[in-house]
Amino acid sequence: MNAELVVRLAYLAASVLFVIALRGLAAPQTARRGVVYAELGMALAVAGTLLRREIVSYGFLLAGAFAGAAAGTLISLRIPMTRMPERIAFSHAFGGLAVALVGLAEHSHRVRDGPPMNGVELAAAGLEVTLGAVTFSGSLVAFGKLGELLPSRPIALRGQNVVNGLLAAAALALVVVPVAHPEASAAIYAAAAVALVLGVSLVLPIGGADMPVVICVLNAYAGLAAAATGFALRNDVLIVCGALDGASGLLLGRAMSRAMNRSFSNVLFGAFGAVDARAPEAAPPPTVASVEDAAVVLSAARTLVVVPGYGLAVSQAQHALRDLATALAAGGCTVRYAVHPVAGRMPGHMNVLLAEANVPYDELFDLDAINADFASTDVALVVGANDVVNPAARTDPASPIYGMPILAADAARTCIVLKRSLAPGFAGIDNALFTRPGTLLVLGDAKKTLGALAAAVKAG
Ligand code: TAP
Repeated sequence: MNAELVVRLAYLAASVLFVIALRGLAAPQTARRGVVYAELGMALAVAGTLLRREIVSYGFLLAGAFAGAAAGTLISLRIPMTRMPERIAFSHAFGGLAVALVGLAEHSHRVRDGPPMNGVELAAAGLEVTLGAVTFSGSLVAFGKLGELLPSRPIALRGQNVVNGLLAAAALALVVVPVAHPEASAAIYAAAAVALVLGVSLVLPIGGADMPVVICVLNAYAGLAAAATGFALRNDVLIVCGALDGASGLLLGRAMSRAMNRSFSNVLFGAFGAVDARAPEAAPPPTVASVEDAAVVLSAARTLVVVPGYGLAVSQAQHALRDLATALAAGGCTVRYAVHPVAGRMPGHMNVLLAEANVPYDELFDLDAINADFASTDVALVVGANDVVNPAARTDPASPIYGMPILAADAARTCIVLKRSLAPGFAGIDNALFTRPGTLLVLGDAKKTLGALAAAVKAG
């Protein structure tokens, strides 16, 4: 078999594995298998690429692979789980930069040594560089906002959307010019520069609360840039992989906008996510309960719905939570978990944590599947969740989260909330659930509180 055929077969097998991987990633039960398929696919794609005859020296490739793997391992080891969204934004930034640099390198190589790029290749290379540069600078801004290096509130000029439209039109024109006038090949550098400004200007007006959607969209841009690279380099696996990445990023972004009851365009162009600047209304004092009191209520419950949130991740309380749930189930209580699509700080954050503690998948329920059941539930146990159970999303049209579907923990007979203080959550707004009658607040770190609750339930 000749080498070219082996490469093509490796690419074909990799493409099929990527599709099967995405199918697996669609459900928590099959997600791990999906990741394994994706890893196998990536290994085949890399092995196939290394067999290509155009490669003149393996030295640079190996050095790059070692440097990249070392940097990736170090970053992943040092960054805690709670800072994963920033980590993802950071990786996207460098994915975008790599794509843009590959495009510029291929373009300058073909200008210098020929054969010259044809119209389709020039357009593909221009799009690749433009999308790669937008992804790079946009992801760096998202990284800054998520990591609080930049203010997370929207920063927008008057007419920002018009400015963005003009920048996008200018970048597109600079991509098209060399197709019609191949001698104007330097326009691709100007397109890259305009795209860098556009990336910043697109993401700055978006508030921190909308960053998850922005990250999905940037992911989609990176995928489309990779697909364009595939056209420019005539590489099939890049086209397939980039198209899958682009489409899944856009679909995930759309699903997350829906979870916040917002349109995609409103998230991207609405300068939403401002911190609520109104003077806080005087709220009644919360009912602060002791661990012992909460343990009595929990032990008497026949039905319990746990609502996990970002605080569960911060305190790494997933194992303590499972321990308490097992003790309550042993006493005859039916325990279920309500998972909000944007609970935590990244898609699937709560699923990952609960899977780590071996919570059975059939005890996890989506918002739509469980919301109606809260009214007939004895206790809703809110563990480090805030925005995703804030009734203002239903009742206060002036609230920045108004319209976001929330878990109806306030409908349960009793609501027990575990958090450290009355501090607001990610959206920076007060939560009337904590101060309404029928809610017991148990203050303290979730892991410690859950440990003490489990001990009290077992002892009682
Ligand atoms: P949040 O609204 O952020 O609330 C988390 C709560 O956890 C806080 O009120 C905090 O209160 C408590 N907490 C923190 N550390 C704790 C600890 N060690 N022990 C006990 N409690 C602790 O979380 P949520 O309800 O999960 O909502 C998620 C928010 O993040 C939404 O606004 C969403 O739009 C946004 N967001 C989501 C994503 C994705 S993709 N999921 C990405 C970025 C942003 P104390 O400080 O008083 O303890």
